[in-house]
Amino acid sequence: MTPAAEVPVVTIDGPSGSGKGTIARRVAASLGWHLLDSGALYRLVALAAEHRGVALGDAEALAGIAAGLDVRFDSDAAGGERIWLDGEQVTAEIRAEETGKGASAVAVFAPVRAALLDLQRGFRRPPGLVADGRDMGTQVFRDASLKVFLTASAEERARRRHKQLKDKGIDVSLAALSRDIEDRDRRDSERPVAPLCPAEDARMLDSSGRSIEAVTQTVLGWIGEVLDVGREVGRADRT
Ligand code: C5P
Repeated sequence: MTPAAEVPVVTIDGPSGSGKGTIARRVAASLGWHLLDSGALYRLVALAAEHRGVALGDAEALAGIAAGLDVRFDSDAAGGERIWLDGEQVTAEIRAEETGKGASAVAVFAPVRAALLDLQRGFRRPPGLVADGRDMGTQVFRDASLKVFLTASAEERARRRHKQLKDKGIDVSLAALSRDIEDRDRRDSERPVAPLCPAEDARMLDSSGRSIEAVTQTVLGWIGEVLDVGREVGRADRT
């Protein structure tokens, strides 16, 4: 079996709405690699706390939930992502704005973050892993082959999120969403534990005004510069 440390990892960190989830999924699919959506784990902790009546300020109880998280990721017949918590499907529930806020509240606690470390590192399996989140490059996979920090202007991030929710039939005001995004950015960047910030060796990528395809190709091109596999896939995709 390949030791985990030899399995290549690409990290994509950035603020809410920067498009990192979409880009990470595309890059992983192009390479045939595994995908870790680390935000989903923080969302699941918040959701499990809500289901069990645990307060979002009770760090110890939340860390207990994180340590014993019974989660499964798979896909339906059409390839759509499905997420299971305690054997119950929560795919739509974890994407709700309220769950996002809850995730950012539980994510401030060091014991919660520590409890999720092994779970996250367990996703590192051959042939490779694309991991997206806030601290993938700074904490969880410090030895990643490539670290990307993806940004976009606050207005564009709010607009994208608004469209995403509208497509799902959820009606929220753009102004309220902008406020939520700014609050979440502030909380994620100012927290003392694993704050949102680029790793020293991260490559910065601003996705404002750029298509998903263009950003995906930039990342695949960068992977090609550091790993043989990325170069092949990046080239094949461009033809
Ligand atoms: O990326 P997503 O919006 O799903 O993340 C939800 C929240 O989980 C973020 O606002 C952040 O507070 C937290 N998070 C984190 N570290 C990660 C991923 C997410 O603190 N690696």
